[in-house]
Amino acid sequence: MALKITVIGTGYLGATHAAAMAELGFEVLGLDVVPEKIEKLRRGEVPMYEPGLEELLHKHVAGIEGSSGRLRFTMDWAEAGEFGDVHFVCVNTPQRHGEYACDMSYVDSAIASLAPHLKGPALVVGKSTVPVGSADRLAAYLAEHAPAGADVELAWNPEFLREGFAVEDTLHPDRLVVGVRGERAEKLLREVYATPVAEGSPFMVTDFATAELVKTSANSFLATKISFINAMAEVCEAADGDVAKLAEAIGYDDRIGKKFLRAGIGFGGGCLPKDIRAFMARAGELGADQALTFLREIDSINMRQRGRMVELTRQELGGGAFLGKRVAVLGATFKPDSDDVRDSPALNVAGQIHLQGGQVTVYDPKGMDNARSLFPTLGYADSALEAVRGADVVLHLTEWREFRELDAQALGEAAAQRLILDGRNALDPEVWRKAGWRYRGMGRPTA
Ligand code: UDX
Repeated sequence: MALKITVIGTGYLGATHAAAMAELGFEVLGLDVVPEKIEKLRRGEVPMYEPGLEELLHKHVAGIEGSSGRLRFTMDWAEAGEFGDVHFVCVNTPQRHGEYACDMSYVDSAIASLAPHLKGPALVVGKSTVPVGSADRLAAYLAEHAPAGADVELAWNPEFLREGFAVEDTLHPDRLVVGVRGERAEKLLREVYATPVAEGSPFMVTDFATAELVKTSANSFLATKISFINAMAEVCEAADGDVAKLAEAIGYDDRIGKKFLRAGIGFGGGCLPKDIRAFMARAGELGADQALTFLREIDSINMRQRGRMVELTRQELGGGAFLGKRVAVLGATFKPDSDDVRDSPALNVAGQIHLQGGQVTVYDPKGMDNARSLFPTLGYADSALEAVRGADVVLHLTEWREFRELDAQALGEAAAQRLILDGRNALDPEVWRKAGWRYRGMGRPTA
């Protein structure tokens, strides 16, 4: 009989994972403690913008016409405990307020709520990004609190999905990493992931600690790549070099690779910034803090880019105060194809200029509602053209495709001044210069 799967926490990761598990053919029950989320999901509505996810929900959520009916949602822990052979824990682990360490309270409370309802054999699988050592601690907790005792096992299976590609990354993962202690856990996870494994996704079996570390070290490496190229951008600017050409040239070396070498205002979002900080904090607790002091530098190079964008804007506007200057900001989300504005470099830059007296008008294809609720005092426009109308400068801060396809000529007629600063080095300088704009990228020559 096919495995029954529960997914605990139906945010970004969990909603996608639940829908993907239904797509792979399993009976799935998603659980969340937020009633509004559950109600929305039951109607097949996605709590955030993620390409392809809504279609997948409609294909499987029970009660929706024509669906497979394999995916249901609940708020009842007893129902979840009874239903699942495998329970995936997908709750978030944000940065703790005022500290670098991550907040484990959602993971801890999910495990504590589930444990008393595990009355028969079950596998609990952690997917959340956690400090190394957590799986060990949670396994001990389950052994003590689950009525089924030793019949309840734990595994750690980190998730590597990228926002904007979440469905694709979940259905066709570039690798599967499972930290296990026993053969039964491995066997069950091989069953869960049989389809992607048959399609060629590598399946790696490790111990708990290694599985936990794979996730934090992968994100640290990605953050390092971005900060490396941003550091090169700073040097290029000082030496009159071109970081875009430099990145292309070093990228031909396949030991280096071309990806994740786009210089600009740096990384943000709900993962990379908090994950490198939590990793430093955990290494400190383990007495290995020296090994990760470089991440402090990675973090500060990254945060510095936001300030550099503000200063570049000031300089291009003549060097004085922002008072009375009209600034159009294209992009509010931390990356394109997402409505996520958590720790968004774009909103950070917009906010800094606004707080220094600039009149900022923001437009984003999908992030307007989230941006408005996080930063209600900024100005907002319904289109790129409206944001640009009357502007003294245009800042391109999130590289949506829509912005690459803008009509530079039409925008030039709407703007007060043809001045565009590309905080993502993603626009074609030639196109803009031909339309009479002064174009400045980050770490790129003036003309
Ligand atoms: C990241 C990891 O990629 C993913 O594997 C992990 O599971 C979660 O964290 P995500 O947060 O969705 O995913 O974003 P990602 O695509 O990694 O981008 C992070 C940030 O880096 C964005 O703000 C993006 O604009 C920025 N970035 C990316 C650059 O500034 N330059 C680049 O070359 C690439």
